[in-house]
Amino acid sequence: MINIEDKAISIRNLTKKYGDVTVLDNLNFDIARNKITTILGFSGAGKSTLMKHILGLAKPTSGTVEVLGHNINELDRHALRDFRRHFGMLFQYAALFDSKTAFENVAFPLREFTSLSEKEIEEKVIDLLLSVDIKEHSFYLLPSELSGGMRKRVGLARALALSPDIMLYDEPTTGLDPITTNMVNELIVETSEKNRERAMTSLIISHDIKATLKISDFIAFLDRGRIIEYLPVDEFTESEKPLVRRFLDL
Ligand SMILES: Nc1ncnc2c1ncn2[C@@H]1O[C@H](COP(=O)(O)OP(=O)(O)O)[C@@H](O)[C@H]1O
Ligand SMILES: [Mg+2]
Repeated sequence: MINIEDKAISIRNLTKKYGDVTVLDNLNFDIARNKITTILGFSGAGKSTLMKHILGLAKPTSGTVEVLGHNINELDRHALRDFRRHFGMLFQYAALFDSKTAFENVAFPLREFTSLSEKEIEEKVIDLLLSVDIKEHSFYLLPSELSGGMRKRVGLARALALSPDIMLYDEPTTGLDPITTNMVNELIVETSEKNRERAMTSLIISHDIKATLKISDFIAFLDRGRIIEYLPVDEFTESEKPLVRRFLDL
């Protein structure tokens, strides 16, 4: 385990049970601000459940989740909805609105959560799309008219629209071909670097060890609801835990 000094997220004694089944088993760890951290684990390890607790979408059976200094379990529904603006999410399948153009997908959070004028929204959307390398001639295409890689980029632009403090990537490279995987990896690193000054935190949930080793500062290995290894990436690759070795040697 490692000691994180500048914390974005603190998890203490977090347990989640569904009936008799313990899915998260007394977790204690922190996630560093302004860094890229990956939570790795096999399918069923509890990664999505952990993510839901970090977002305040699930309630702990016991223990606490502190995000940016707030105990999110103490926020009421209304406060929690506001608090989620601190998060940007990029899902496995980008989850764009199928009937909205790339432009309108990115404009959506700005229309929903800000009082920017139409002109300000337009300027911001154009900046965001260009920053993820979507060219002007693609602005008004529908998701079905974009490649998988472009959809990811539009999804990222939308996630960044409200300048989140924490970017969450849920299985960002799962199911992608190697070239698109590299592109998404580069995008995650670039996004982290571009937002370094405002100390944005990146948290990746993945079972793709090869993709995440290249880009993470820290890696936590989750197995059956427990963190069994948590190290800076260069030390993680030297781990002698048999399960981690099995994962690394895949
Ligand atoms: N709402 C739920 N009710 C009951 N069991 C659940 C629920 N959500 C997840 N689980 C169980 O928790 C375990 C971990 O699931 P999950 O967090 O989705 O793992 P991962 O994302 O690592 O694949 C699985 O065994 C799953 O069946
Ligand atoms: Mg999952």
